[in-house]
Amino acid sequence: MKCLLLYYSFTGQAQRAVDAVSAACRGAGWLPVVCRVDFAAEGERLKRPLSIGDIKRWTGAASRGDKLPVTYDPPQALAEKFDLILLFSNTWQKSPSVPIRSFLESADAARVLAGTPFAVYIVCRRLWRDNLDTVRRLGEAAGGRFVDSLTLPHSGGAVSSLVQTTSYMMRAGSGWTHFLGVPLPAYGLSPEKFSEIEPFTRRVLERVEAPESRIVPLEGGHNFRDIGGYSTADGKCVRRGLVFRSGSMADLTLPDQERIAQLGVKVVCDFRSNRERENRPSRWPEPASIDLWTRDHDSSVGALLDAISVPGATAAAVRAKMIEIYHTLPYEQADSYSELFRRIATGPLPLVFHCSAGKDRTGIAAALLLTVLGVPRETVIEDYILTERFFEGLCRLVKTDPTSSRFTAVDPSIWDPMLRADAAYIEATFDTLTQRHGSVGGYLREVLGIDDQLQSAVRLKLLE
Ligand SMILES: Cc1cc2nc3c(=O)[nH]c(=O)nc-3n(C[C@H](O)[C@H](O)[C@H](O)COP(=O)(O)O)c2cc1C
Repeated sequence: MKCLLLYYSFTGQAQRAVDAVSAACRGAGWLPVVCRVDFAAEGERLKRPLSIGDIKRWTGAASRGDKLPVTYDPPQALAEKFDLILLFSNTWQKSPSVPIRSFLESADAARVLAGTPFAVYIVCRRLWRDNLDTVRRLGEAAGGRFVDSLTLPHSGGAVSSLVQTTSYMMRAGSGWTHFLGVPLPAYGLSPEKFSEIEPFTRRVLERVEAPESRIVPLEGGHNFRDIGGYSTADGKCVRRGLVFRSGSMADLTLPDQERIAQLGVKVVCDFRSNRERENRPSRWPEPASIDLWTRDHDSSVGALLDAISVPGATAAAVRAKMIEIYHTLPYEQADSYSELFRRIATGPLPLVFHCSAGKDRTGIAAALLLTVLGVPRETVIEDYILTERFFEGLCRLVKTDPTSSRFTAVDPSIWDPMLRADAAYIEATFDTLTQRHGSVGGYLREVLGIDDQLQSAVRLKLLE
C-alpha cells in the first residue's frame, strides 16, 4: 500500500520526523512517497538567519490564516493515488505553518485527500492544539478521513525552548547553548516523543490497512487468513506469514494449493472431528510435505442441532445456545488448543490451524493466541468478527455439507445465528475464562498446561 508524506520544514525538525516515518512505513511493507511543499516564489521562502521583522511577518500571516501559492518537490508527487496521507504540520503562532495551510486549502488538497484517510504529526516547539484542530478541520473539509495524530514538541520547558528556538532561527549556525549562564536544551524535538514515531506510525498503518489485507484470496479455500500484522498493547507487532487460520480446506483448487505451497506452510492443525474429516478430506499441495495434526474425536454439535431442529425453534434460542457453546468450547477443545500452543512455541512454522467454518473452534483459538501475544481486546474481537465477510461462503458450505441435513429443512433465519461471528459469542468465552482462571494466561496454564515459559516462547516466536 502507498502513502503520501506531505511536509514543510524550515528548521529541519519536520524533516527528521519524515525520515523516521518513512522508515517505519517501509518496515511495515508500505511504499512512502515523500513530498515537500514550499512557497512557489523563491523570494518568499524562509531562510536562516530570520530577522525579528520576518518572524513578526510570518507569525502574523499564520495567525490570520494567509495562503500563498505553493510548489511541490517532486512536482508530480500528488498526481498519484494514495491509501493514506500523512501530514506534518509545524506550529507557527499556534496555527499550521503558512505553507501547510496553503496546501490544505488548495485544489490539490481536495483532490489528494478526497475519500482518503489522513493522520497528522504536529511538529512544534510547544503549542499544538490549535494547529491540530485547524489541520483536522481543513483536512476533513477537503474530504479526508481523520485517523489519528501525534504531537512532537521540542525538548525543554516553555522559556528555555522559546529562547532556544528563537536563537536558532535568528542565527545562521546552530542556536545558543546557554542563556544568561543557564544551559539550554539541544535544539529540536524531544527524544522521548521522537521514539513514539515508529509505534504510532505502525498503529496508523495497521488501522488503515483493510482487515481484509490479512485474507489470503483462494478460489476454493474458505476464511483463510494471516493472524499477523496486529499491534500489541506494548508496541510490538504480530509477525505476518507465520500463523494462519482457516476454514475448510476440502475444496482447494490447484492454484490454491500452489498459493499455500508458496506460503511455505509446514504444519497444519486440523481441529475437525473424525466424521468431519471423513466427509470432507483436505486437499493438499503435492508432494504433501506438510505435518498434519488431527485429533481422534467425535463432534459435539448435537446440542446445537437440537436447538435448531426442535419444533418452535427461534433465532433467539439458537443465539443463546451459541453463547452457551462459547462458554464450553475452550474446555471441549482443550486438547487441540494445547497442541496448537505447544507446536507454535516449539515446532516449525508457518502453521495453519483450522476447522470447518474457521469461525468457532478456530475463532476461539485465534482469540486466545492474539490475547496471549498482547493484542488489545477490541482488536481481537475485530479479528473474530472478520469471519462475517465469509457469511455467504459459509451458507454454501452448510447447504452442501452432508452432516447438515438435520437443519437445512429449517427456515434459514432460525439457524442464521449459528453462522454469525457475533461479538457476544467470543465475549462469552473471555467472560468464562476470566471468571474461572483470572485471565487467558491462567486458562492456558491451568487447562492447557501451557506454562509461562511456553507462553513466553510463543511471544518470542511471533512478535517483532
Ligand atoms: C514563524 C514561526 C512561528 C512559530 N510559532 C510557534 C508557536 O506559536 N508555537 C510553537 O510551539 N512553536 C512555534 N514555532 C516553532 C516551530 O513550531 C518549530 O520550530 C518547529 O520545529 C518547526 O518545524 P521545522 O523545524 O520543520 O521547521 C514557530 C516557528 C516559526 C518559524
